[in-house]
Amino acid sequence: MPPPTLWHPYAQMKALPPAPKVVGGKGAWLQLENGESLLDATCSWWCMIHGYGHPRLIEALKRQADTLCHVMLGGLTHDPAQQLADALVRVTPEGLNHVFYSDSGSVGMEVAMKMAVQYQAQRGRPEKHRMLSLMRAYHGDTSGCMAVCDPEEGMHSLFAGFLPKQHFAPAPTAPFDAPREAVEADIAALRSTLERCHHELAALLMEPLLQAAGGLNMTSPHYVQAARELCNEFNVLLIFDEVATGFGRTGKRFAAEHAGVTPDIMVLSKGLTGGYLGHAATLATSHVYEAFLSDEPDHAFMHGPTFMGNPLACRVALESLAVFEEENYLSKIDTLNAMLRQELAEDASLRQDSRIEDIRVLGATAVIEVTDAQSLEGVQAFAREHGVWLRPFGRWLYTMPAYVTTPEEMHRITSAMKGWFAFSKL
Ligand SMILES: Cc1ncc(COP(=O)(O)O)c(C=O)c1O
Repeated sequence: MPPPTLWHPYAQMKALPPAPKVVGGKGAWLQLENGESLLDATCSWWCMIHGYGHPRLIEALKRQADTLCHVMLGGLTHDPAQQLADALVRVTPEGLNHVFYSDSGSVGMEVAMKMAVQYQAQRGRPEKHRMLSLMRAYHGDTSGCMAVCDPEEGMHSLFAGFLPKQHFAPAPTAPFDAPREAVEADIAALRSTLERCHHELAALLMEPLLQAAGGLNMTSPHYVQAARELCNEFNVLLIFDEVATGFGRTGKRFAAEHAGVTPDIMVLSKGLTGGYLGHAATLATSHVYEAFLSDEPDHAFMHGPTFMGNPLACRVALESLAVFEEENYLSKIDTLNAMLRQELAEDASLRQDSRIEDIRVLGATAVIEVTDAQSLEGVQAFAREHGVWLRPFGRWLYTMPAYVTTPEEMHRITSAMKGWFAFSKL
């Protein structure tokens, strides 16, 4: 066999078995070349919120392709980019009034960080040029993003010598529904980190409520509110990375809404286009935006990815927003949430299983955390035999299904997850 030409992500190519070949998809299902159908419990790294082959999204893409596939946003504009900017300002938390596009979640985060540093410099505080991130954070794989991912448990420690040094606060530990008193210790830890290093901080960045790739660590809205207050107190911008949490994943359209908080900068991607094309939006408040208005040409925001505001991506994002609203996705997410609670979090046999450390559910997200990653060895093959595509990582077996997943399909996913623990006990 010649060596493969296609290099897969996060995979040791030496030992990689042939990947299942996908030839199509419909709703929450993937169709494989061998005739197998697999129910996707992860909706393709959490972005295919409408599932596969959605007729309205496909039609929007086709119509736009007939008109204009791409044009630079440098010095030109077009309806899809303008209309999506207006729509995003309407649906996101009050005060986020300006939209800067880019092509992926990582680049959207790079834009946010660069914006924060330039904001501070143009407000006369050039010494505030570092980031404060949280342990267990994941913000992407580009260099700037790797530098704000968890430096110990994240996957980028090899690059430590190459990356700029940023600051980290402990990951919050209080659960989503903790009362304020139970969150005080997390808030105190954040405060003491800010007290130590605020003089050089441009921004605090966080995945609000749900640290996704860092092990689906969930926290309380009180923590998010306190982060807002602390950032005001220490003159540090607050950046929400809603790449994973945005568009319904935590049960509200944006995680920020659980806390009633507006960040200074917010990043969206993944569900933005319903997963149908790669794109991202970095939104800023007027307060941030106005720091870039000047008679000095070099006070402009010097950034501009080639594909920013791509008309196909913007058009499909507009259609995705329309479907989300017209088909009342938040009620679909509520239904999925009730099932995930009942069938996983409240399941007696899972709760008694000594291999399981915790089961957490938030919105259309559920995770079973085990104490030893070995307990999950074989689960993917087991689920596939039951027609379900799961992709656990580390000690976390999770589902983040498409919102179009029906109750029967959701039940099939939870049964595969539960079934594994019964099967592997034997
Ligand atoms: C919270 C968060 N931020 C950023 C990213 C990076 O996005 P992308 O893979 O589109 O670069 C991800 C991807 O999983 C993410 O979960």
